Amino acid sequence: MIYQLFTLGLRFRPIRNLMLLMKKIPAKLHTVNMLKEWKEKDYIFQNASVSLLGHGSLTNFAFVCDAFHFKNPLLITDPVLIQTGVVKKVINQLNKNGIKYAIFDGVQPNPSTEVIDQLVKQYRKDKCDALISVGGGSAHDSAKAACLILTNNSSDLYRFQGLNITKQAMAMPLIAINTTAGTGSGVTNVAVITDEVHHFKMTLVDKNIQPNVMIDDSDLMMGLPPKPTSWVGVDTLVHAIEADLSNIPSILTNAYTRQAMHLVYKYLPIVYKNPGNVEAREKMAYAEYLGGVAFNSASLGFVHSMSHAMSGVFNTPHGLANAVILPYVLDYEITNDFVIQKLCKINDYMGIDNKMIDEYNKAKECVRGIIKFLKDLNIPANLNEVQKNITPEQIEAMSKKAMKDFCGISNPVQFNRKQVIHIYENAIAGKFDHINE
Ligand SMILES: NC(=O)c1ccc[n+]([C@@H]2O[C@H](COP(=O)([O-])OP(=O)(O)OC[C@H]3O[C@@H](n4cnc5c(N)ncnc54)[C@H](O)[C@@H]3O)[C@@H](O)[C@H]2O)c1
Ligand SMILES: [Fe+2]
Repeated sequence: MIYQLFTLGLRFRPIRNLMLLMKKIPAKLHTVNMLKEWKEKDYIFQNASVSLLGHGSLTNFAFVCDAFHFKNPLLITDPVLIQTGVVKKVINQLNKNGIKYAIFDGVQPNPSTEVIDQLVKQYRKDKCDALISVGGGSAHDSAKAACLILTNNSSDLYRFQGLNITKQAMAMPLIAINTTAGTGSGVTNVAVITDEVHHFKMTLVDKNIQPNVMIDDSDLMMGLPPKPTSWVGVDTLVHAIEADLSNIPSILTNAYTRQAMHLVYKYLPIVYKNPGNVEAREKMAYAEYLGGVAFNSASLGFVHSMSHAMSGVFNTPHGLANAVILPYVLDYEITNDFVIQKLCKINDYMGIDNKMIDEYNKAKECVRGIIKFLKDLNIPANLNEVQKNITPEQIEAMSKKAMKDFCGISNPVQFNRKQVIHIYENAIAGKFDHINE
């Protein structure tokens, strides 16, 4: 079945596309051309080839070995996941299938170009033949970025910024084993890598980094502490909300977003209070998968653009930045009719108790319901609680980076830089323009 995507975005966003063209940023120029091409093609829905889902699904690892015949994969992970025994579970599966391996344990949250360089060096030195990331979004994105460099034999990660820059199919299998729920990175064609020189999170979107397999086994997520569990769980919610509000949606992506937001609203508070709850962990893993598949085709919005910019400057955890910024973006765009109608539906899919009759008030109550949900997860109410003393110069810098970020293109309302600055100022001060009227 096929669904129309990106065409709508092109039709509704000619001014922004023109702006991008005028900026003459090569990656963005390429993106605009790509969107034109897609207009001709009519329908695209992108999905990972195979996913193993469910508590204990890692035990089906033999399926992956049979399908890809690698002999010496590089496991990409970090010291925490080695210490907690999560990586050992993967190694046990490799041993069971008689496969030797090498380990790169240098992944860091918000991974940088430096980490990717080291990873690539080790892959070459150990003569590996597959990339298996074990971790959250940071491990998967590191593997994807390394895959781009290795496949295209180019160490310049910057040239891969934008949409579908490369022509070469992946030179090695790319397997993503999830330990958080979740960024959805295991099922997306996106990698977000920090350029430490310019304090900027680069977004690389390329069909040639879509993992061949994602393993979404909640058994590997049981040890994730409550705080990161809530942050990354809200990241899933933001994926679902932004993909639902996107200006390039489809009937298929909407089906995924709605189920994802329903699951997060119901199960994230449970898993936050009781990290050992197997059922809630498993449902969150499903939600991550659904949110990831949805935004892989419908893309995201300004919450992600603004949070990427903030993490680039302050190294803020991705899910936390998204969680704090979300209500302020929704509040700002709530006067738009399309957003109002969507928020009324989002309210019902999430299951927020809402007695309002008219649409505008119902939409406002929905945002207040989301704020209550975040408060119950102990998410800070404003950016000042996350990062003290953000200066006007830093707001200025973040707004410039947010405007360059790829995600905002599919936001239902296109903000200019002044508006982005205003939203950052509101988010720092804890001030809402509309929902408390
Ligand atoms: N590519 C995409 O589609 C996409 C989408 C959203 C976010 N991202 C990126 O993903 C990154 C964030 O990923 P994340 O939120 O999954 O966190 P993460 O991968 O950065 O991990 C955060 C911390 O949690 C620890 N951890 C992970 N799993 C654990 C477990 N089971 N038990 C104990 N500790 C565990 C890690 O060791 C790490 O210290 C950001 O860089 C963000 O930009 C990518
Ligand atoms: Fe995200």
